[in-house]
Amino acid sequence: MRPLKMIAEMSKATVHMKDPEHLEQILESIKDSGPNTLQVISDFDMTLTRFAYNGKRCPTSHNVLDNSKLISKTCQAEMKNLLNTYYPIEIDSTRSIEEKLPLMVEWWTKVHNLLIEQKIRKDQLTAVVKESNVILREGYQLFFHHLHELDIPLLIFSAGVGDVLEEVIRQAGVLHPNVKVFSNYMDFDESGVLQDFKGELIHVYNKREGALLNTQHFQEIQSRHNVMLLGDSLGDLTMADGVQDLQNILKIGYLNDKVEERKQSYLDSYDIVLERDESMDVPNAILQYIT
Ligand code: TMP
Ligand code: MG
Repeated sequence: MRPLKMIAEMSKATVHMKDPEHLEQILESIKDSGPNTLQVISDFDMTLTRFAYNGKRCPTSHNVLDNSKLISKTCQAEMKNLLNTYYPIEIDSTRSIEEKLPLMVEWWTKVHNLLIEQKIRKDQLTAVVKESNVILREGYQLFFHHLHELDIPLLIFSAGVGDVLEEVIRQAGVLHPNVKVFSNYMDFDESGVLQDFKGELIHVYNKREGALLNTQHFQEIQSRHNVMLLGDSLGDLTMADGVQDLQNILKIGYLNDKVEERKQSYLDSYDIVLERDESMDVPNAILQYIT
């Protein structure tokens, strides 16, 4: 039977594909190569986490801090203003990535400087994550456990805040040894107070540079020529650019917001587009099939 007929979840109303035949070839080719040749590269915010729950938006890793008691009311208001200014630009389908790039650097830089001013303490992060409304997508346990069981490396590549997202995964009990994170990590001084962010800034549209700077990671898993990539932004499509001798890449994109305006561009770039789907059902079913 044809792969797409065997994966029941692929007939869900939320699933869209531009080229099902090409997708079937990728699925067959990855399946034939076996789980030892596979790695998974996933974005975090709004890809592994839910976009909305009961009609309300869920927080990103930055929002976990924005909404917390660690931040003064004035700073909270400033961060909200920045979000209201720059998020519409991030998802604007009428502007090119080149046009958005400097504006994204501007957004992230302003936010990180504001966070640094707040003298956030490392030991407060556990409580702040516990008190937040951040929710991993339905079926996340199966996703993380399956990859762990088969020893398939999972790279979480996020323009969010590394310390926060790692804590989210830790509290969910799925920070397994096969999980590696590239993100913006906080740099604390010797008394545990935030003084800066480490390394090169990662924002939504420079993940390619981040991938190429971290070649060491990809060298360690260089026998894994097949990639399953999960994202929710067009900027996530370059997350696998550090993989050498890439054989097959299967790209799954969550289309959460501005669905009608962005659907065609998502269909043109992702092999599978999941429209307003808050679950991991499709990635899970595909993993079951190919491994
Ligand atoms: P991601 O790479 O894990 O998806 O994280 C990037 C998301 O973070 C991006 O969609 C925008 C969001 N974001 C906020 O919600 N608040 C902020 O202050 C910033 C800078 C980004
Ligand atoms: Mg995202």
